[in-house]
Amino acid sequence: MSLKDFFIALSENQTLNSAAQKYGYQLGAQTVVAGTNIDEVVESIKALNAQGIACTVDNLGEFVFEKSAALAAKEQILTVIERIHSENLDAHISLKPSQLGLDIDYDFCYENLKDIVALANEYQIFVNFDMENYARLHPSFELLEALHAEYGNVGTVIQAYFFESDDNVERFKDYRLRLVKGAYKEDPSVAFQDKVDIDRKFIDQIEYHLLHGKFTSIATHDHNIINHVKQFVKEHDIPNEKFEFQMLYGFRTDMQVSLAKEGYNFCTYVPFGQDWYGYFMRRLAERPQNINLVTKQVFNK
Ligand code: FDA
Repeated sequence: MSLKDFFIALSENQTLNSAAQKYGYQLGAQTVVAGTNIDEVVESIKALNAQGIACTVDNLGEFVFEKSAALAAKEQILTVIERIHSENLDAHISLKPSQLGLDIDYDFCYENLKDIVALANEYQIFVNFDMENYARLHPSFELLEALHAEYGNVGTVIQAYFFESDDNVERFKDYRLRLVKGAYKEDPSVAFQDKVDIDRKFIDQIEYHLLHGKFTSIATHDHNIINHVKQFVKEHDIPNEKFEFQMLYGFRTDMQVSLAKEGYNFCTYVPFGQDWYGYFMRRLAERPQNINLVTKQVFNK
């Protein structure tokens, strides 16, 4: 088992997830999670906004198998939207359909998403659907299309590692899209496994959406890709209003600030909440060196 597989397996472990909720932040998650409640995350957003950085706010949540948990998540997200509006924050919402009940019942999930998108639409706040594993891809796209037809303020993520992702970039070219490499462990029958293949697809899709699509969020910590994009937009006269860079809260913070200072739109993905364990383990799976973040927290107390 590779280290990546090991951390992915941990991220999917429900018992450890519950234990982590009980024992709080001790594993060092506070470096990459912007607060455990709404007041804390609002302060983190204000601090980022003060540096010219926008935010996309994710109310962390996994393993939602009960309707009550999905409804609680919905209420939490509605409260975040109210706070973004009332405090005039430069922020929008990221959410995962599974957290709003996708694994329980499609129609129930649709109604929950609709309440969120409708309120956000009233305040002209954008809502982004994060993309999860392959099994949830197509149901999530269907929900997205239904809501996009009714309200314009929704977009999604395309994960470059899927064989079908070129088609999906084309299918959603009129949407605001976040382009990423892809974070989950996927079967070789549906997704590229090699970094070289994934990087190539990722670059192709970024270039395509920058040239032909609506607004593009380029979500990566990879400086080679970021430098490539900088060069590409210059050569093709693509204005800064057409795209932004995104990174996760707590990663390459200096680079986040310097990209904003250089005049690029920059948006930080700001996760918050009690349910941080799975998120945290996936970040370790992507880059085991991130474990440095953990050890620093544990030993520098
Ligand atoms: P990758 O991990 O491939 O690293 C490439 C190189 O960049 C490294 O070799 C290193 O040189 C450098 N580097 C990377 N991280 C570094 C660090 N912390 N410090 C120093 N150097 C570093 N996935 C998904 O499946 N669904 C989703 O909805 C999302 N959403 C999302 C939002 C945002 C804002 C981001 C940034 C990412 C996601 N992802 C995601 C995760 C994404 O799919 C991907 O798994 C991670 O971003 C890791 O890939 P990178 O492109 O960042 O670089």
